[in-house]
Amino acid sequence: MIEDLNVARDAALADVAAAASLDDVAALDARLLGKKGELAAFKRQLGSLASVDERKAAGAAVNEALAAVSVALDERRAELAAAARSAAVESERLDLTEFTARPARGHAHVVTQAWERLEDVFIGLGYQVAEGPEVETDWFNFEALNMADGHPARGEFDTLFVDHVAPGGTPGHTLLRTHTSPVQIRAMQAMEPPIYIVAPGRVFRRDTPDATHMPVFHQIEGLVVDRGITMAHLAGTIEAFTKAFFGGNVESRLRPSYFPFTEPSAEFDIRRPNGDWLELGGCGMVHPAVLRAGGIDPEEYTGFAFGFGIDRMAVMRHQIADIRDMYTNDLRFVEQF
Ligand code: PHE
Repeated sequence: MIEDLNVARDAALADVAAAASLDDVAALDARLLGKKGELAAFKRQLGSLASVDERKAAGAAVNEALAAVSVALDERRAELAAAARSAAVESERLDLTEFTARPARGHAHVVTQAWERLEDVFIGLGYQVAEGPEVETDWFNFEALNMADGHPARGEFDTLFVDHVAPGGTPGHTLLRTHTSPVQIRAMQAMEPPIYIVAPGRVFRRDTPDATHMPVFHQIEGLVVDRGITMAHLAGTIEAFTKAFFGGNVESRLRPSYFPFTEPSAEFDIRRPNGDWLELGGCGMVHPAVLRAGGIDPEEYTGFAFGFGIDRMAVMRHQIADIRDMYTNDLRFVEQF
C-alpha cells in the first residue's frame, strides 16, 4: 500500500507543479486533499491492514503524503498569485515620467534679450542705466524737449492721452510717453554732468499694428552731457555701438535730419553685409533749450543724444519678417531665439 501511496503522492506533486492557474490549484486541492479525494482513499484502506504496527506506519505515511501535497499546493498558489500580481502591476502601470521630470527651463524673450545686450554694450562703454515713468506729463514728453504747445512735430507722435489730471495740472496733459526722450530731462535734473546714460523702456503710440509697427514698443535713449562734446563723439559712439552689437562687418552712417530737441540732428543707418542700408534711429547734439530745461548751462556743457527702437534691433538681428510675431506669445516662435 505504501508503494501505491508513494506513486499517488508523486503523481499528485507533479500535477501541482504543472498547475497553470489559481483555479487549477483550487481544483487540485479538492481532488487530492478533499474528504473524497485520492489521498483520503488511502486512509480508508488503513482499517484493512493486519497489524497495529503496519497501520501505524501506513497512517504516518498517508499523513506525510497529505502534508507534502498540501505544502506543494500552498507554494504553487503563492507562486501563481505573485505572478498574477506582477502581471496586473505591469498592465496597470502608468508612466509618470512627465510629472517627475524637471520642467523645461525657459529663457528671456527675444526683445528682452536685445534690451539686455544693448544695456551690456553701453555699460561696457561706461554708461549708466536710467529710467523714467511710462505715464508722463506733456511737459517732459514735449515741452521740455523744445516742442511747445502747437509745435507741428507733436502731431507726428500719435499720442495716447490718459484720463487723469495731475494736482494743479490741466486736463489733457497726462499721456503715455511717446518716446524715451523725456528721460533725458529727468536725468539732467537728477544728475550733475558728466552724464553718460542709456534709458531703455516701453513707449506708446496710437498706431494700428502692422508688420513694422506696434502701438506698444521699446526704445533705448542715450544721453551724454559733458564739457567739449562734439558731433564726432556722437558718430564715434554710434559706430562703436554698431560694431559691438551687430559685429565687425556692419557699418554705420549719419544722415542729416530734423528733431526739435537736437541741433544739428541726424538719422543713423547701418549697412548689413548684403549692402542694404537700414534706418535705426535718431540722434543729434542736444538743443540748448533742452539743456536749459534740464537745468544745465549750455554755455558750459554740450551733449549728444540718440534714440532707437529695441524691437527693430531684434527684428534686424534675427531677420524676423513681422514684428507682431514677437507679441503673439506663440511658443513655436518664441522658442526659436
Ligand atoms: N525721440 C526720437 C524718436 O522717438 C528719437 C531721438 C532721440 C532723436 C534722441 C534724437 C535724439 O523718434
